[in-house]
Amino acid sequence: MRSSFGIFMVVFLLECYWEAVSGQLSYSVSEEVNTGTSVGNIAKDLNININELETRGFQIVSGSKRKYFDVNLKTGFLYVNERLDREELCAKATKCTVNVEAVINNPLKLYRLEINVVDMNDNAPFFSESLQSLNIAESTMPGAKFGFIGASDLDVGKNGVNTYKLSPNDHFSLENHKVGTSVSAQLVLQKALDREKQATIKLTVTATRIPENLPVGTTVLVLNATDPDMDLNAEIEYSLRSKGQDHVLDLFHIDPKTGAILVRGEIDYEENPAFEIHVQASDKGQPPMSADCKVLVEVVDINDNAPEITFTSLLNTVKEDTTVGTAIALVSILDKDGGENGIVQATIANETPFKLDTNYKNYYSLVLNGQLDRESYSQYNVTIVATDEGSPPLSSTNIVTVHVSDVNDNPPRFSGDIVNIYVKENSLTGTVIKTVTATDADIDQNGRVSYTFLPSNVDSLPLSTMVNINSETGDIVSLQSFNYEELKTFQFKVQATDSGVPPLSSNVTVNVFILDENDNSPTILAPYSEHGSVNSENIPYSAEAGYFVAKIRAVDADSGYNALLSYHLSEPKGNSLFRIGTSTGEIRTKRRMSDNDLKTHPLVVLVSDNGEPSLSATVSIDVVVVENTADIQTQFRHVPIKEESFSDLNLYLLIAIVSVSVIFLLSVCLHVGFLMSLFLSHSECTYFTTPHGDTVDHGI
Ligand SMILES: *[C@@H]1O[C@H](CO)[C@@H](O)[C@H](O)[C@H]1NC(C)=O
Ligand SMILES: *[C@@H]1O[C@H](CO)[C@@H](O)[C@H](O)[C@H]1NC(C)=O
Ligand SMILES: *[C@@H]1O[C@H](CO)[C@@H](O)[C@H](O)[C@H]1NC(C)=O
Repeated sequence: MRSSFGIFMVVFLLECYWEAVSGQLSYSVSEEVNTGTSVGNIAKDLNININELETRGFQIVSGSKRKYFDVNLKTGFLYVNERLDREELCAKATKCTVNVEAVINNPLKLYRLEINVVDMNDNAPFFSESLQSLNIAESTMPGAKFGFIGASDLDVGKNGVNTYKLSPNDHFSLENHKVGTSVSAQLVLQKALDREKQATIKLTVTATRIPENLPVGTTVLVLNATDPDMDLNAEIEYSLRSKGQDHVLDLFHIDPKTGAILVRGEIDYEENPAFEIHVQASDKGQPPMSADCKVLVEVVDINDNAPEITFTSLLNTVKEDTTVGTAIALVSILDKDGGENGIVQATIANETPFKLDTNYKNYYSLVLNGQLDRESYSQYNVTIVATDEGSPPLSSTNIVTVHVSDVNDNPPRFSGDIVNIYVKENSLTGTVIKTVTATDADIDQNGRVSYTFLPSNVDSLPLSTMVNINSETGDIVSLQSFNYEELKTFQFKVQATDSGVPPLSSNVTVNVFILDENDNSPTILAPYSEHGSVNSENIPYSAEAGYFVAKIRAVDADSGYNALLSYHLSEPKGNSLFRIGTSTGEIRTKRRMSDNDLKTHPLVVLVSDNGEPSLSATVSIDVVVVENTADIQTQFRHVPIKEESFSDLNLYLLIAIVSVSVIFLLSVCLHVGFLMSLFLSHSECTYFTTPHGDTVDHGI
């Protein structure tokens, strides 16, 4: 019988259990209503805005495989999703409830719903046999009571068998007995009966308890009926009677002779916790006499069912910045056994940043218990072990994989704060002079790095005319051929930014050092010669050996060895009157003059630098020997106090070169950590001596 009426909300409770508040709602619905029948407005009862049901992922989570109830996310109504047969769900239990959970995210809340399935009087009572015969001795005194096989009703409570009535007759009345919710009746003899023959069978009524899973053929109990008659009249035959419980006949049989009740099927506590076996004993007299008895068999639960762990994921992936205490999943544990065999404890067996919180009996939530970091662990296998309290206990294990998703929590990182780039001057425009690289521990967009120049606060340098950067690769490209003599070093900052939302960035300072090349010849400052004109210098005939004739002054726009000058003199053949200080540039006489010497000496001075290859310049001086010392007047004649004193310029240069070489060696060792650099020959090092070479002022 189906009915679509009778939906009424009974109680509304809200209890706080744990952090993600758990409430409890209670509804009632009649069994056998049409699927789709509304049970209650759950959104309204939970005070959730209807528009949020879908966005916040409201769902009904069923503990069992069948989903008896679901929710309409548009209306907020809980409705019946599958046929509800109270007798199938709860058998004879008077209170029949179906427990489901409702879950909503952001923030996560868990609600327990208890739906009371109300019995409908959809089953009529029935007698297993339409005719029952009672054998009563004629000597029986009025007032004696006689039982009969009662009627059954699959419904419960007031829908079950409530009362028995007897049609009017002379000899018997009916007595109803109510014990709890069950009703039985007995016939009461009102008036003595009269019959020729006397026969009685006495039957001992027994109750027994057996463990479940007994092997087929096991004797449950032996009945002993006695008959005081003799011979055939006392030969008793036992049989089981069906009372609408076909399964009893499937599971038990009785030996007709011995009265032993034997197991013939699988006794499963989880299917039937108890049986009522009706036995009939009859003799073979004419007419046969018979008696009935009821054997109550209670099945003792054996811990034969391991807990079953069901896992309902609430979040597909868990973001690595999820706050501690957030529920990740619901874990429900079902153990079909009864009593202690069905009480289950669940734990996490391995080391993870999660814990299990108990919501209510056998329902847990998997809660984040520590900080996550996808860069360290992107996945956890959480081993959940559920153990019941049976003896011996049974347990089962379920491994749940939790995936941690990326959050942009790592900025791109350069390997250091400073990048030094050394570029030779005069190098080709468009060359990649350096590639800067920043790494980002995040993945995908959060780890995709792009590079840009940071605007400089000293805007003196038009950076855009000098270098460019490839935003994807970090390649720094020269946009001009640098001239060391104009620009020795410049600095800028590169910023690396990832593509996360919001993006993270970091920066690095780039120092570019232009390396000197020997691209400038020495320039002779004195003696000054205009367009190839020859300078002349007068010396007295009486000049002593070592007489100071002239000093050549020259500079080189390069630096270091490229600017370290040396002076050489070439005289006409066979003449060796003059010498020049290689480093000072001072021309002096070697000896006193003799009459054999020429009066005019055309000297050519070669000034060369120490670059590789060397560049040089020449200057010609005609030295004229005069008799009269008054004729000796020259603007270049600054006679040094000490002969062969080192040229100031060269001295500074040397100091600079040496110190720069040392500093460079040190810095190479520090920066590169290249032991080999320590053994670089001096001349090799000088190639790089530019960064600090500008301590020498070329503008002398
Ligand atoms: C049945 O009971 C009677 C009397 O109580 C006894 O004598 C007899 O041995 C019993 N039979 C069995 C099979 O136990
Ligand atoms: C989790 O289990 C899967 C499947 O067994 C395995 O591939 C993975 O490596 C495990 N992850 C961890 C972190 O142990
Ligand atoms: C560059 O990075 C440093 C630290 O890494 C930071 O203090 C500075 O503010 C950054 N500069 C710019 C312009 O972003």
